[in-house]
Amino acid sequence: MPTARERTALWGRTVFRVLGQNRVSQTGIVVTTATGISMVFLWIIETLRGGHEHPYSGIVLFLVLPAVFVAGLVLIPAGFFLQRRADRKAGRENEPPPPIDLTSPKFRRVFTFVVIATLANATLVGFASYKGLEVMDSVGFCGEACHTVMAPELAAYKGSPHSRIGCVECHIGAGASWFVQSKLSGTRQVVAVALKTYSMPIPSPVRHLRPARETCEQCHWPQRFTGDRVIVKKKYAEDEKNTVLTTVLVMHVGGMNAQGSVGIHGRHLDAGSRISYTALDERRQQIATVSYRDDAGKTVDYASTELKPTADALAKGEVRSMDCVDCHNRPTHAFELPHRGLDREITAGAISRDLPFVKKQALELLKGTYESQDAAAKAIGDGLTAYYAKQYPEIAASKKAEIEKAVQAVQAVYRRNVFPDMKLVWGYHPNNIGHEDFPGCFRCHGGNHESKDGKPISADCEACHQVLAMEEENPEILTQLGLK
Ligand code: HEC
Ligand code: HEC
Ligand code: HEC
Ligand code: HEC
Ligand code: HEC
Repeated sequence: MPTARERTALWGRTVFRVLGQNRVSQTGIVVTTATGISMVFLWIIETLRGGHEHPYSGIVLFLVLPAVFVAGLVLIPAGFFLQRRADRKAGRENEPPPPIDLTSPKFRRVFTFVVIATLANATLVGFASYKGLEVMDSVGFCGEACHTVMAPELAAYKGSPHSRIGCVECHIGAGASWFVQSKLSGTRQVVAVALKTYSMPIPSPVRHLRPARETCEQCHWPQRFTGDRVIVKKKYAEDEKNTVLTTVLVMHVGGMNAQGSVGIHGRHLDAGSRISYTALDERRQQIATVSYRDDAGKTVDYASTELKPTADALAKGEVRSMDCVDCHNRPTHAFELPHRGLDREITAGAISRDLPFVKKQALELLKGTYESQDAAAKAIGDGLTAYYAKQYPEIAASKKAEIEKAVQAVQAVYRRNVFPDMKLVWGYHPNNIGHEDFPGCFRCHGGNHESKDGKPISADCEACHQVLAMEEENPEILTQLGLK
């Protein structure tokens, strides 16, 4: 009886003789064994360390190594068959393949090896593909692996109400067909990144975004009655005192209630879409015609009295049914304009209103043109410190810490909104909610879209919101509402 060790050696020799008598298969065996062992080893380390921290580590562990492993596997039989063919052509004698017969010990050895190896490989590859998909769906892969390219979207996302949900929830959603589509276009994007053929900045709107019904509505739905919502907006004047100006709106968000579909959500979205429009430009900012299905089911067509496209231009326009993204086009990549970014930091207390003219000075610095984010940060730091040192030496001395804190906050506003590497400048992506910074709602509600019988799309301030206070220094309403 041969010992276990002898049996294993014999086993290994037979397998190697049958499968590995050529360079190609030998390379395959070496590559597969080496990557197989290192994969298992690295996975164990990773598990012990509690998950990968760097986006690339996941990519290497679960995408690159498994790919090399599979490539090695493919080489083994490929070499075997290539060698056979070459031998046959050259009329060379070779170790004959074992007869397919389970009673032959040689065949049994090769057979057992192949079965065990296949099971082990299937487990490895299965686990790797599962983890690989997880990696591809992670925020790290989407947002960080392509550093420069996705940096703006990632930065804006981090400060948004959606920063706890994955990129894929909105960009891919559930179901196999979008999954496959996204992987296909993802591959194109990876190629574009590698060849640097992507557009800078990445343009919006996203042409082939999955319909909001299938993504946003997994978590929010328009019929839900959301009623009215009080919105308090604080701005700061560019004066010495950085005077606070407060606007209080009661937004008629609406939804579905006993009266039917009401308010902003109800009027545009019902059980299905009720509005479609034709936009003349890529950015969907110039809306030439709007078609509306009213509560009685009648369709009313409106046309812009301002844009008067030729029939040809109209035919070339993009026809779209309105969904969430036509208003909430920045639900998570909410880039700010410089004054809005500063207002936010002042409200949050990161920039002290006790620093005279801080809003005005910071705004000027933010609007400068810089080569990189670092250059901007330096200019902002130097500029603000120099301003107080020169104009308000006492404050520069007594409020040193506040100035330092303000510098950091202003730099942060720049860093989350302007990306010279990607040519992303202030206000590149319009925000369609509102009407002050961008046309937004007024693309249709600006009073210049009329139906055939001369009725305009409503432009009444009160239809959308009650304005309880407008840029007031000390609105009484806040005290009345108990919001002060
Ligand atoms: C709450 C849903 C949501 C999440 C989460 C989300 N996105 Fe988006 N994203 C959108 C929408 C909606 C648009 C389309 C905007 C448009 O068409 O104007 C978009 C557009 C983009 C664009 C095109 C450029 C632009 O700014 O419009 C990129 C790039 C992008 N997203 C990357 C990401 C990355 C990376 C993540 C994860 C870090 C992510 N997105 C997470 C909803 C989301
Ligand atoms: C996976 C679930 C999920 C998906 C998908 C999702 N959201 Fe959200 N959304 C949330 C959560 C959670 C919040 C935060 C609620 C909070 O902070 O109170 C939120 C908040 C919001 C808000 C409110 C922000 C505010 O000012 O209060 C808007 C608007 C919004 N989402 C729009 C969208 C749109 C548009 C989409 C699709 C492009 C979308 N969401 C997709 C979960 C989701
Ligand atoms: C006609 C434009 C429009 C459309 C279409 C639209 N919304 Fe809104 N939505 C608004 C406005 C305006 C607000 C008020 C919030 C604000 O002004 O910031 C709002 C508020 C919200 C909020 C916050 C609600 C709250 O009470 O705090 C969520 C969540 C939201 N929308 C999700 C969606 C989703 C999901 C869809 C698509 C099913 C959608 N919206 C379609 C304009 C729209
Ligand atoms: C079609 C709907 C609609 C109409 C009509 C409308 N608004 Fe608004 N308004 C909005 C929305 C949406 C916002 C954005 C609220 C937000 O930023 O969350 C807004 C914001 C505002 C703000 C705050 C601006 C800011 O961001 O600081 C003021 C002030 C305002 N509206 C005044 C008016 C006045 C005055 C009228 C009438 C001439 C009017 N609006 C008409 C929808 C409308
Ligand atoms: C693509 C065109 C379009 C855009 C963009 C649009 N709306 Fe509308 N909206 C309509 C149409 C059409 C109607 C129905 C006709 C009407 O009520 O005058 C309507 C109706 C409304 C109504 C009901 C008015 C009433 O008198 O009952 C509200 C409120 C409203 N929209 C708010 C908004 C807000 C807020 C935004 C921006 C966030 C917005 N809309 C953006 C087309 C649009």
